[in-house]
Parts: sequence; structure tokens; C-alpha cells
Amino acid sequence: MTITNHFPRGFLWGTATASHQVEGNNTNNNWYAWEQAGHTRDKSGLACDWWGGRWKEDMERAAETGQNTHRFSIEWSRVQPTPDRWDESAIEKYRSMARGMVERGLTPLVTLHHFSDPLWLYEQCGWETEAVLPCFEKYARKMAEALKEYVSTWVTINEPNVYALNGYVAADFPTCPQGHKGMAVALRVLANMLRGHAAAYRALHEIQPEAHVGYALHYRPMVAARPWFPLDALMRKIQYDGINMAFPSAISSGVMKSPLGKVNIPEAKGLQDFVGLNYYSVDTVKFDWSARKELFGRRYYPADSDFSTNKFIANIPCGLFDSVRWAAETYPDTPIVITENGVEDADDKLRPRYLAQHLQQLWRAVNFNYPVKGYYHWSLVDNFEWERGWSQRFGLWGLDVETQARIRRPSVDLYAEICRENGISDEMVEKYCPEVREKMFPGRNVAP
Ligand code: BGC
Repeated sequence: MTITNHFPRGFLWGTATASHQVEGNNTNNNWYAWEQAGHTRDKSGLACDWWGGRWKEDMERAAETGQNTHRFSIEWSRVQPTPDRWDESAIEKYRSMARGMVERGLTPLVTLHHFSDPLWLYEQCGWETEAVLPCFEKYARKMAEALKEYVSTWVTINEPNVYALNGYVAADFPTCPQGHKGMAVALRVLANMLRGHAAAYRALHEIQPEAHVGYALHYRPMVAARPWFPLDALMRKIQYDGINMAFPSAISSGVMKSPLGKVNIPEAKGLQDFVGLNYYSVDTVKFDWSARKELFGRRYYPADSDFSTNKFIANIPCGLFDSVRWAAETYPDTPIVITENGVEDADDKLRPRYLAQHLQQLWRAVNFNYPVKGYYHWSLVDNFEWERGWSQRFGLWGLDVETQARIRRPSVDLYAEICRENGISDEMVEKYCPEVREKMFPGRNVAP
């Protein structure tokens, strides 16, 4: 007898991508400038050549392997190359992409902003000033008009917390030509992103009243290294609030709260039709005098973790359950979508069990009646991993960057079986990651 953990009927099964990471030849944005200046391990180059047309074959792959949705992003710098000009041919291309997805049975979910900014915006210091707000709102309107025929679910901004912290605090991401840095400006950027989210939310709803609009939060559960030690608990709280809570607090109360202060943004209160969660792993936090840059709270993975290739991610599936529970308790009656979850693993040794175990935790969450509506695996095919370049491979499909060939990893077939079954079974686990079968489906060897 097979045991299957089934998901609710109509569950959304997909993968997620972002324009700069897959399109290639994106020469008019801040990331291109950052790459040319030598701040990244590699250059994005042709990426997955989606702009050259290979999105079609990748969507073919997604559809043929049982997926029913795809999350992709619009490259703002392509549709608005200069502040005074829309590129209608680029917009038409995005329309054909969205249409192409619909035709293949993939419901499109569109992200308006996924880390990359047009060069003209970068040159005027992007999200540091409120000058960005009318621009972002216009862009949102333009895209809503262009895509409303095919798209009704929108993510305004992807991971504003990562954008602000990786840029203005860690200096791994571009900020502005003057290279502004610091906590104060990071907070200002976050506040403007919240205002931008609110403006885009309203604009999208005005044009498309039935739209579902949210943003994607990079949510990191955290645990104190020594729960009995007050300084670890305090550091955990500071890191947790600092990294996770700016957007969520403002959506709940209209006040953006952070350990560094509060900003009133009443117009953002309640503006989310679903909670978009990007979950990858859980951090352990320890008080550490030497971690000045991290405000004395060192974040790390325990040494005995189930690590990814570059130790960038530790496989901690229960963190996904905890993330969903947090979302459900914080925003009662709001649908939850896992907008990203995945692992870098060129050899596909860890991914099958990462996938299976995370999905079982998601199934657990569903059984608590938490309103989870969909899951987007990051990612469909290896893509350009920002400052880490091509050193991290997150694709179900591998990519040969030189030849553009796609490599079918075993996870492609595991995910296909899950999508088709709308559930995950002990047989699938036995076939793709037998090492966790007993853990996931205990007692299977016991005779009836
Ligand atoms: C980002 C993606 C990125 C992924 C893996 C997420 O934080 O949204 O763009 O590729 O993490 O690093």
C-alpha cells in the first residue's frame, strides 16, 4: 500500500525565476553596472537566454513535468529604458511570455521588482529618495494594463529586506553610484519600498479589481544558540526583528518597526491579498563580542547541519512549517503562497530530500488548515546567482552556461511526480531519496 501526503485540490505547483537571472544581455540596469565594475564572481552574460527566446523551451519543460504555474519577473529597465520612454516591443515580448505560459497551462505570477533597477533610477539613487515612488507606480500601472489579460496575481517587490540589507549593509548588492551604505539609509530604502508597494498595490487594484497582490518576504526563522542564555535570546530577537519584521510590521499596523526605530507608513496597512514567503533555512544566533558588524549577534548553521554544496543553505525542513505557522498566526484568513524555496546543489545529491522533506512540512501545515495555496520551487533552471555568479546551482534543471544545454537532474522527475500526484508518497521518497524514507514515513517495514 502506498502512503501519499495529498495537497488540496487546485494547489499551485510551480517554479520561480527573476528577469536578470535568466534573461541574459540585460545591459541597462544596476546589476550590469555592478558586474562590469567587478563586484560579482561572474558576469550574467547570456544567463539562460530567455530574452533570446529560450523561455519557450523552459516553459515547455515546466508544463511537461506537471507544473501548473510559473513565477517570473519583469525587467523594468527593458520596458522603460529611459524615464521618458516605454519600449513597446519589450512590453509585447512580456505579453507573449505571459500568453505562452497560459497556453501551456501555466498560470503566470508576475513580480514587478526583483532586485534589479533601471540604470537611470540607479543614477538618481534608486529607492533612497521618494522620487522613486511616482516612477514605480507608473511602471506598475503600465504593466497592469499590458498584462491584465493574462495575469491576475502580482508580487510588487521581491525580498525588500534582502535588497536593503545586502546592498546597504553587507555591500554585496549595488546601491547607487556613490556607493551609499549604512543602517540609516537601509531603513530609508525599506520605508520607500513599503510606500512603493502600497502605491503599486493600489494602482494594480484600480486597473484590475480582482487582482491578488502581495510582496515576497524573505523570512528567516531563528533560534538562540543557547536558549537559556539571555544574551543569545536578546541577539536572536534583534536579528529576527531586524531582518524579518520591517514589512510585516507595517502591513499589520501601518508602522514599520525595526530595532533602529519606527517609521509611520499608514498607507501600507493591510495591503496584501496573500502572504508571499521565500523560505530557505533557519539561522542559529549567538551572542559574540567579535561580531561587531552583525551587532554582536552571529548567525550561523550548526556544524552538524545537512549542508548544501557551498554551505549556503542548511536543510531544515521544519523551518518551512514554522514560517507558514507564523504567517497564518500573524495574518489570519490571508492565503499563503510559498513564493520561493530551494537549494544550491549542482550534483543533485541533497535536492531530492530537501524537496521531499520541505513538501512534507508544507503538507503538515496544510493539515493544520493553514491556508497554503501554492508552492514555487527556486528554481526551474540554474540561473545567475547575483554576487555569487554561477557558483551556486539552484535549478531543477542544470545549465551548461557555455552551450545553453539543459541538464535533467533527478529532481526534475521527483517534482514532476509530486505535481502530477498533487502529493508526495513514500514510493517517490523511496525512489529518489531513500535515505529519508524511514524518517518521513516511519514504520513502513512493519507487517500489517
Ligand atoms: C532571491 C533569488 C535568489 C535566491 C537564491 C532569493 O533570496 O529572491 O533571486 O536567487 O534567493 O540565492
